Amino acid sequence: MTNIILLGPPGAGKGTQAARLQDNLGIVHISTGDMLRAEVASGSDLGEQAKGIMESGGLVPDDLIIAMISKRISCEDCSGGFILDGFPRTTPQAEALDEMLADSGIVLDHVIEIRVDDEAMIQRITGRFACAECGAGYHDDFHPPKEDGVCDKCGSEKFVRRADDDEDTVRSRLQAYHRQTAPIISYYSDKGGLSSVDGMADIDEVTREICKITG
Ligand code: AP5
Repeated sequence: MTNIILLGPPGAGKGTQAARLQDNLGIVHISTGDMLRAEVASGSDLGEQAKGIMESGGLVPDDLIIAMISKRISCEDCSGGFILDGFPRTTPQAEALDEMLADSGIVLDHVIEIRVDDEAMIQRITGRFACAECGAGYHDDFHPPKEDGVCDKCGSEKFVRRADDDEDTVRSRLQAYHRQTAPIISYYSDKGGLSSVDGMADIDEVTREICKITG
């Protein structure tokens, strides 16, 4: 059982690498962004509260996120290990996670920071799209489907782009990262459990570096 946190700004490659870790290690990928987008799509109360905040590039309030993650981590499928992608994102979230893990006797094995340059993240995110059927992720320049307009994984010809992936919103998301999330890098390095990888390397190289850490 391995429990991992992936940290890094919007576009750093957390989702891309978490999906690979899920396949390689057979552990559960938990993305708070994906969970919130599912809530928005379902029209739930949480989705209604989160929608406008996500569209403006801000962070959803800690109490809502902490409750959502607390419920998710206690699900049976997480007992074999998990990768947290997009959580924690503030110091109160990191402290709440510590409490949740201590209460459940769960040990955090790796906190991995993916380091990148902000300006490159604009290009990465504004070029991103995904298969509407299976969710496989692509990029206009860096990772297009092998056959133009056809998903490599499921053959679907339908693709979607995220509502918060326009340039202005990405800049707001990067600001929120530096203001509210970057401080938790020192929270984890002070505890002695932080590793870093160069997220500007190509996707396969980043995966190799992460695998060296996770073993
Ligand atoms: P979330 O969905 O978590 O978005 P994010 O953190 O902004 O991260 P992204 O998904 O944009 O980037 P990523 O690092 O996963 O990169 P990816 O692998 O896709 O959150 C969305 C919103 O939800 C937030 O703004 C907030 O409102 C809310 N929210 C979520 N969690 C919250 C929390 N805990 N508290 C409060 N609010 C919360 O890669 C990007 C692109 O680059 C892809 O096209 C990929 O193919 C490409 N790529 C990846 N790696 C490389 C590489 N090495 N080289 C070249 N291209 C690459």
